[in-house]
Amino acid sequence: MKIKAIAGSEEKVKSDLLILPLFKDNNSYGDLTSSIIGIVEGLIKKGIFKAELNEVYPLTTTEAPHPLILLTGLGEREKINGDRLRQAGGSAGSFCRQKSIKSISLSTANLRETGLLPDTFVEGFLLSTYMFGKYKSENGSYCPELKILSKDRALKSRLPEIEAQIQAVFLCRDLVNTPSNDLTPDAFAKQALKLKSRKVSVKVLTEKQIASAGMDAYLAVAKGSKNPPRFIEIRYRGGSKKSVVLIGKSITFDSGGISIKPSSGMEKMKYDMAGGAAVIGIIKAAELLKLPVNLIGLLPAAENMPGGSATRPGDIVSTISGKTIEIANTDAEGRLALADAIEYAKRFDPEFIIDIATLTGACAIALGNEAAAAMSNSEELIKDIVKASEATGEKVWPMPLYEEYREYLKSEVADIRNVGTDRAGSLVTAGYFLKEFAEDIPWLHIDIASIAWTDKDRPYCPKGATGFGVRLVTRLLRNLYQK
Ligand code: BES
Ligand code: MN
Ligand code: ZN
Repeated sequence: MKIKAIAGSEEKVKSDLLILPLFKDNNSYGDLTSSIIGIVEGLIKKGIFKAELNEVYPLTTTEAPHPLILLTGLGEREKINGDRLRQAGGSAGSFCRQKSIKSISLSTANLRETGLLPDTFVEGFLLSTYMFGKYKSENGSYCPELKILSKDRALKSRLPEIEAQIQAVFLCRDLVNTPSNDLTPDAFAKQALKLKSRKVSVKVLTEKQIASAGMDAYLAVAKGSKNPPRFIEIRYRGGSKKSVVLIGKSITFDSGGISIKPSSGMEKMKYDMAGGAAVIGIIKAAELLKLPVNLIGLLPAAENMPGGSATRPGDIVSTISGKTIEIANTDAEGRLALADAIEYAKRFDPEFIIDIATLTGACAIALGNEAAAAMSNSEELIKDIVKASEATGEKVWPMPLYEEYREYLKSEVADIRNVGTDRAGSLVTAGYFLKEFAEDIPWLHIDIASIAWTDKDRPYCPKGATGFGVRLVTRLLRNLYQK
């Protein structure tokens, strides 16, 4: 991926494809010739190309310096905003990726008049060019070159930031797409170790060290697997104040354990470490963007498998603090690992904790595949995440943690049960469970089970891992700590 902003014009810069973003009416065409403008306006007038948002139409030409002009719909002029631009850019990028078009230029004549920077258009374009081709013998990579026809300094200065974000999102997507045989807890730790740099240090705890730290609830998840757990601790030192702790659910495969899942769709449970991968992406972005904040990423990695030594439903374990948990269902494993990670985080006296987790199937029941769910003991953090959500287009919806839910988690034999007594409310009871361990530390839980993976191509996200959370939380941190 290569991007640059150059001072050329539509008629002078050569490329294989020119992206021409178009509204439904009153368009600007830069210096394209009147015959091309005539053809385009004709297509719009006849309704062959309607310029709807996310509509694209490849127009072949003989006279322009580009053999192809991709008419890219922006929809109604009055409705345009940052995320609609991002989507339009994504639709253009998806087309280029599917056709393997390498040399691309972007006309900004129309975008300039919206008063919005075309930065989100470019971001969407780049996000959509992602390909996971590592396991394909042929056609496994795509690396386009984008020339943005713009002299705008503000846009130019935004490009390194966009590239940093994209790099971080792609890193996250790569990790999530990697199958579990190649991404065991130990392999995940090795990937995290690659973050090491002047400002980033990584420490990995082995099973023995996890046990001596007292994280028995987390260890219970790993017991059925031959692949031992790894507790990954990543530190980014960019600031001088208290740290923010980011915890990512890092179950490298979730079979359900003894409470085994149905086999249909189980192959997707390789993405149960998407929270951990997002944390890796966020720390990568923080480093590239030189964010003035201290971050500690905690990734309790484990594989949830059935087996002779696996945890049984009904077993009782305790976390670092000694709180006892009745494991009524071994498929509610994420919260066991996260409970210990949250308690472990307390030793850092954090400013606040954010956990990101593919925690519940109920998250997708509630929100479909469009948004993540947020729960918190701090109204401030909810406001912060909603604001970051609006800026990034990564949708987040707040859910309540009413005290009444405590009752659902009541155990006859231990301090708490890891699942509610019935399925009702299982999105929020999972959040409530974690809240019991966060106690009075400001904490935000983001359930991304609904959105960490997509089965269909989306405007700026091809099928597979979405990388959700990286841009979102990086934005939250920038809003709170930059300047
Ligand atoms: N990893 C799953 C949640 C999940 C489901 C993520 C589908 C992505 C897609 C989690 O560990 C789980 O199994 N949760 C159970 C909890 C239940 C036993 C209370 C669930 O949601 O079914
Ligand atoms: Mn599970
Ligand atoms: Zn899980």
